Amino acid sequence: MLVLGIESSCDETGIALYDTERGLLAHHLHTQMVMHAEYGGVVPELASRDHIRRVVPLTEGCLQEAGVAYGDIDAVAFTQGPGLGGALLAGSSYANALAFALDKPVIPVHHLEGHLLSPLLADDKPDFPFVALLVSGGHTQFMAVRGIGDYTLLGESVDDAAGEAFDKTAKLLGLPYPGGAKLSELAKLGRADVFAFPRPMLHSRDLQMSFSGLKTAVLTAVEKVREECGSDDIPEQTRNDICRAFQDAVVDVLVAKAKQALLDTGFRTLVVAGGVGANWKLREALNSLTVQPPAVKGRKKMPAEAVKVYFPPLAYCTDNGAMIAFAGAMRLQEQQEVGAFNVKPRWPLSDIVKGTSA
Ligand code: KG4
Ligand code: ZN
Repeated sequence: MLVLGIESSCDETGIALYDTERGLLAHHLHTQMVMHAEYGGVVPELASRDHIRRVVPLTEGCLQEAGVAYGDIDAVAFTQGPGLGGALLAGSSYANALAFALDKPVIPVHHLEGHLLSPLLADDKPDFPFVALLVSGGHTQFMAVRGIGDYTLLGESVDDAAGEAFDKTAKLLGLPYPGGAKLSELAKLGRADVFAFPRPMLHSRDLQMSFSGLKTAVLTAVEKVREECGSDDIPEQTRNDICRAFQDAVVDVLVAKAKQALLDTGFRTLVVAGGVGANWKLREALNSLTVQPPAVKGRKKMPAEAVKVYFPPLAYCTDNGAMIAFAGAMRLQEQQEVGAFNVKPRWPLSDIVKGTSA
């Protein structure tokens, strides 16, 4: 079965062809980053118009690369939500029009399910069950994943998402949009322990997280530096030190919560998905993750247990069409209900999951 996937939830138009027998045949992406950079953030109307301009040429590029024709497509999957209403409508309209013309089913896909399943696109894929850490610009969630469509929400950020905190902090430091990746590059040049930022909810013993206080702590530090320097410009090394301390704090929280999630579920496989999954420090820290089984009174301390950690290939970490084509193909194979024209700009993943933890 050949599935065309269309991603248009924000500022990237991603198109891909996934074949259930042969795997990913082609995936093309157009990022609007340069267009929005001028405004310091995504301008929804410009995003929608650009998606409309890009969908057809990107699809034709994929067909050409894969050596297949429109008539070979068995189903069209598209991101139904969450995301920007107009941007989602651009993808939905195209998906529905194309599917109607080809007389094939259309499969609405939840954007986060796309991210969640993206590590399964790699050659070395995780087996179910696993804990998924979804860390994007809009979400920071831990899910227990037992199979396709079998997701249990374990905990999430109560305020800003980790990616959002990266972007807001980058903006605060005067870095160009979108700042998350740039901040993490500068963190490499920062010195340890020059700044100490809080690790919110680190010891809350649940899987809730909070990142907005961290952003405020950075703001306070920046104001202090400015006052001391008597200038609005932050010295380069100081800015790099702040980047490092900020990144260290976010990574510490995510790693501690990941450990907790693995202990709570008893799973020993962790899958990281979403844009922040591209972060080098997070990858480094999680790759050496072990979990210590809780001590039982009167018994010898158990040795720490190894955890298998999977990240999607870098190209599939941030928004892309491959994850939508793949999630659509999985849904099609599971014979889930298909067909929808409407979009869902606000759509909690818990609406499609089988249950949420108490
Ligand atoms: O998953 P994604 O492409 O879009 C959403 O669905 O949100 O994630 C984008 C987010 C942005 O907040 C971006 O700053 C962040 O991922 N991001 C990073 C890195 N690369 C992208 N954050 C930290 N370090 C990175 N290397
Ligand atoms: Zn995303």
